[in-house]
Amino acid sequence: MELEAIAKSYARWAPVYDRTFGAMTNAGRRRATGFANAVGGEVLEVGVGTGLALPFYAPHLAVTGVDFSEAMLAKARSKVAEQHLTQVRSLRQMDARELDFPDASFDTVCAMHIMSVVPEPERVLAEMARVCRPGGHVLITNHFAAEGKGAMARFERLFAPLSDLLGWHSDFARARVLGDPRLDLVEEDGLPPLGLMTYLRLRRR
Ligand SMILES: C[S@@+](CC[C@H](N)C(=O)[O-])C[C@H]1O[C@@H](n2cnc3c(N)ncnc32)[C@H](O)[C@@H]1O
Repeated sequence: MELEAIAKSYARWAPVYDRTFGAMTNAGRRRATGFANAVGGEVLEVGVGTGLALPFYAPHLAVTGVDFSEAMLAKARSKVAEQHLTQVRSLRQMDARELDFPDASFDTVCAMHIMSVVPEPERVLAEMARVCRPGGHVLITNHFAAEGKGAMARFERLFAPLSDLLGWHSDFARARVLGDPRLDLVEEDGLPPLGLMTYLRLRRR
């Protein structure tokens, strides 16, 4: 998807996101934030959206969130203010393909349900690897395309042309987030509901 289509799509999603897609996908946010909390330190959440994961980060963390959509960020800012989320240090409008942070700035970089949304996911992955410190982790939760000719693969291909309307690509290949030579896959797990989402933990060399 191009940025203009993303901004339009998520301006439509923002008012209803938490009660729809957002409500069905908390397992991934819980999983990733649980790992980040155990590590501690500085966390970057790329594509923070309406901030559904922000209350799950422990108070001892320093969390930075970025997103391209101002409409989604406005929802995240309201959550931070209403729930007094002191662990959230800043929320900034930014394109994930050009992160405005120095190399090795973060202990953990989270990307939940965004890799099949962003244009040029390989470039976003490279940016996440760059800003993650050596020995730190990039955590990804996403739906990946079912392989083969089963009903799910057919369903995904059917919805693929509607990506601009939906706000994500339904037939996104897992291999597209595994190609950065600085990142080693160290953990992979299916997530509820029905294993439709996958959790990946990648360690920065
Ligand atoms: C499906 S939402 C996921 C939001 C949040 N991570 C969550 O788990 O609820 C995808 C988010 O990615 C953001 N996004 C898409 N392309 C982006 C880009 N190039 N840079 C930053 N954010 C982007 C969208 O604005 C949207 O908020």
